[in-house]
Amino acid sequence: MAKNHAVVGTQWGDEGKGKVIDHLAAKHEVIVRYQGGTNAGHTVVADGQKFALHLIPSGILHTKSHCLIADGVVVDLETLLQELTSLKEKRDKIAKLFVSKKAHLIMPWHKIRDAIDGGKLGTTGKGIGPTYTDATNRVGIRMIDLLDKKVFAAKVKDGIKWNEFLIEALASYHGLSSQAKKKLAVDSALSATNIVAEYYSFYEKLLAYGIELVDSSEYLSQAVEAKKKILFEGAQATLLDITHGDYPFVTSSHPTYGGIPVGTGIRPRDLSIVGVVKAYSTRVGNGPFATELENKTGIGLRERGHEYGTTTGRPRRCGWLDLVVVKYAKRINGLDALAVTKLDILSGEKKLKVAIAYHVGNKKINEYPVSTTEKEQAKPVYVEFPGWKEDITKVRKFADLPKVAQKYIQFIEDSVGVPVKYIGVGPGREELIVR
Ligand code: IMP
Repeated sequence: MAKNHAVVGTQWGDEGKGKVIDHLAAKHEVIVRYQGGTNAGHTVVADGQKFALHLIPSGILHTKSHCLIADGVVVDLETLLQELTSLKEKRDKIAKLFVSKKAHLIMPWHKIRDAIDGGKLGTTGKGIGPTYTDATNRVGIRMIDLLDKKVFAAKVKDGIKWNEFLIEALASYHGLSSQAKKKLAVDSALSATNIVAEYYSFYEKLLAYGIELVDSSEYLSQAVEAKKKILFEGAQATLLDITHGDYPFVTSSHPTYGGIPVGTGIRPRDLSIVGVVKAYSTRVGNGPFATELENKTGIGLRERGHEYGTTTGRPRRCGWLDLVVVKYAKRINGLDALAVTKLDILSGEKKLKVAIAYHVGNKKINEYPVSTTEKEQAKPVYVEFPGWKEDITKVRKFADLPKVAQKYIQFIEDSVGVPVKYIGVGPGREELIVR
């Protein structure tokens, strides 16, 4: 077994990464989030309690570990505080949490801009895109700025000046009515005094909870020297990557393997990259989705799989498993192993389909296209499987799965050319087959 692991999504997110991360976290000493922000929603069920984590690494429940929110993450201080408070209320002890000094802060104006502008993509509205935009535009505010109140206050003042123009322009571009403006809080004056006071109140409470600001790269180098095992926890997924995803229907970070070195400041060695594949496909927000099922089968998957967003509560679009997508994720991430999740949700389905190629016009294509038009026109070429009726949630050994379920997994493994090491058969911690 490799010493270090990375867990990445191979589809459009919500693959059930939280459960795989939670399982692997027990075998690692440092758990690292390297990108994204509160747009993520990792659900971990432990000891009958359900935890919905948005920003804090899923390893937080492993008391002996250390958790790190690294450089590439965008931090919403208020949510961070809420999550820590709720964890502390439910658990006597949680892991120690470190936060990168280089991580950018989500500011109130980022959420307003996202609310006005994010609709066409169906963003989560958490201010993620505008925060990364400002980071790239070199006008962002980082965690390190909190260390000097004068610097922080000056940056907030500057930020407000620029953002008042920007927000006004965006509202006018989108032709927002005064009612819509009110709803989106567009006209509510941004007060530097209030923002500074509020952010320091969050920050001081977080310090009192024991969080520590660090240079991720230095912290992780020391962990490597101390021979600690490190787990990199991806949020979102390959097809939501800003460069490699279904641009422009993507998030603004790099959920793929490439996000790790940039988002942490180290080059991990002895690393096994685990790609998480939901046994069917789901997507939230807009964008192409070749195997989408807008029928009873799709609704059935949504209801049985509780396919409603952890972050926004939005119903997820559902469809058959698409191996063109998973093979693409293998290429982009260099996957070493697969974790197939939510296999139990397919129980009771009479017939299962898996896409292995697309027809676009009269062309058959095996590789995931770059063109949005081709993705939208793609007609899946399916392989059909008989389903199984049995409840598989109690199964813990591969050989005990119904033969047809074994075949389904074997087909994924052979087609993608990556071993399936983990199979999720239910939401609980223990409902996992390890091969
Ligand atoms: P943003 O990340 O809020 O900017 O949203 C951009 C796109 O990524 C939208 O289609 C979102 O629905 C999608 N997205 C962001 N985070 C997640 C996630 O954790 N799971 C699934 N989709 C996500």
